[in-house]
Amino acid sequence: MNPLLLKALRCEPISRPPVWLMRQAGRYMPQYRALREKHSLWEMFHQPDLAAAVTRQPVEHLGVDAAILFSDILVIAEALGLSVQFPAQGGPRVTPAVQTAAQVAALPYIPVAESLHYVFATIGQLKKSLGVPLIGFSGGPFTVASYFIDTSNHSAFERTRRWMKEDPVSFHALLAKITHAQIAYLKGQIEAGVDALQIFDSWANVLDAAEFESFSAFYLRQIVQALKGSGIPVILFCRGSSLRADALSEIQPAGISFDWHLPMQELRRQVPEGIAVQGNFNPEFLKLSKGKIQAGVQQLLTAMQGERGFIVNLGHGVTPDTPVENVRCFVDAVKGKG
Ligand code: CP3
Repeated sequence: MNPLLLKALRCEPISRPPVWLMRQAGRYMPQYRALREKHSLWEMFHQPDLAAAVTRQPVEHLGVDAAILFSDILVIAEALGLSVQFPAQGGPRVTPAVQTAAQVAALPYIPVAESLHYVFATIGQLKKSLGVPLIGFSGGPFTVASYFIDTSNHSAFERTRRWMKEDPVSFHALLAKITHAQIAYLKGQIEAGVDALQIFDSWANVLDAAEFESFSAFYLRQIVQALKGSGIPVILFCRGSSLRADALSEIQPAGISFDWHLPMQELRRQVPEGIAVQGNFNPEFLKLSKGKIQAGVQQLLTAMQGERGFIVNLGHGVTPDTPVENVRCFVDAVKGKG
C-alpha cells in the first residue's frame, strides 16, 4: 500500500509529501456525475457498492495518495433517531429539527452497528482492493449540532447561536450526546478497517476563542483521546484553523488541516514537531491556468522542503465548478510529474 500519508502523519522522513483533496469525490468529476444521474445522493451514501465505487474514483482517475470514504457528516443523525435528506436544491436537511432541551433529553441512541452498518460495509468492501490508505471521517460535534438545529437557513446560525448563549447547559447536553455517538461511530470505522480519520468541525469558525474552547475543542479533545489507544491517526479540520493553531495543537491530534490564511511554513513553525500539518491551497487556486497551478505547487514544495509531517491538500473542499484536468495537473505537480 502507498505509505506516504501514514508516514507523513507519523512525521517520518519521506521522498515527497502525499496529496489528496477534501471533497475529492464529487460533482467536478465526470465519472461521479455519471453515477449521480442514475442514483439519488441518499442511495449513493447508503448502498455500499455505490459508495465504494465513488470512493475509488479519485484514486483511479486522479492518482491521489489517499481515498476518503464517500459518505456525509450528517449520517450520524441516524444513530440519534433522526433522519437526513439531501434535496436537489439547498443543503442537507435533518428531521425533525432539534430545538428544545426536552428533545435533547429524549434523543435515543441507536447502536451504530445497526444504524450505520452500511458505512462499515462500504469500508469492508474498499479494504479488499484499495492501493492507498482509506480515510474515514465524522463531523465535529458543534458543526453537526448546528445542522440538527438550524435546519433552514443554516449558514445564519441563528437558533444555534441563541441556544448556545441562552441555555448552554442543554446545548452542552446535545453536544455530549453527539460526541458519544461520534466516538462509537469512529471506533466502528476503525474496526471496519480505515487507516486514518479526519474530523470536520467545518463551522467552528463562527465561534470566538472562548466559545471555540468550550463548544468545539472540548469535544474534539474527548474524541481524540477516546481514539488514542487504537493507534489510528486523527486529523482535525475546521474553517479558520489558522487562527486556532495553538488550541488545535493542544488537543494533540496526529495532524491539523489548515485553511489558506497563513503560509504553510509559518503554520509548520506554530505546530509542535510531532503533529503533521495539511493544506493549504485556496480551492479557487484550482481554477487558474495549468502553468500557475504548477508554479504554485512548486513554490509550496520548495518552501516546505525538508519539513517532516506535511500533507498537500486544499484549505477546504474542491468546488463543483473546478475543471477536472486542473485537479489532475495539481496532483501530478505534487508527484513531480508536472
Ligand atoms: O471529501 C469527500 O470526497 C468525501 C465525501 C464527503 C461528503 N461530505 C460528500 C458530499 C465529505 C467528507 C463530506 C463532509 C461534509 N458534509 C461537511 C464537512 C466538510 C466541509 O465541506 O466543510 C459538511 C459541512 C457536510 C454537509 C453537507 N453535505 C452539505 C452542506 C452538502 C450540500 C452542499 C454541497 O456541497 O452540495 C452536502 C451534500 C454532499 N455531501 C455532497 C457530497 C459529494 C454533494 C453531492 C451532490 O450534490 O452530488
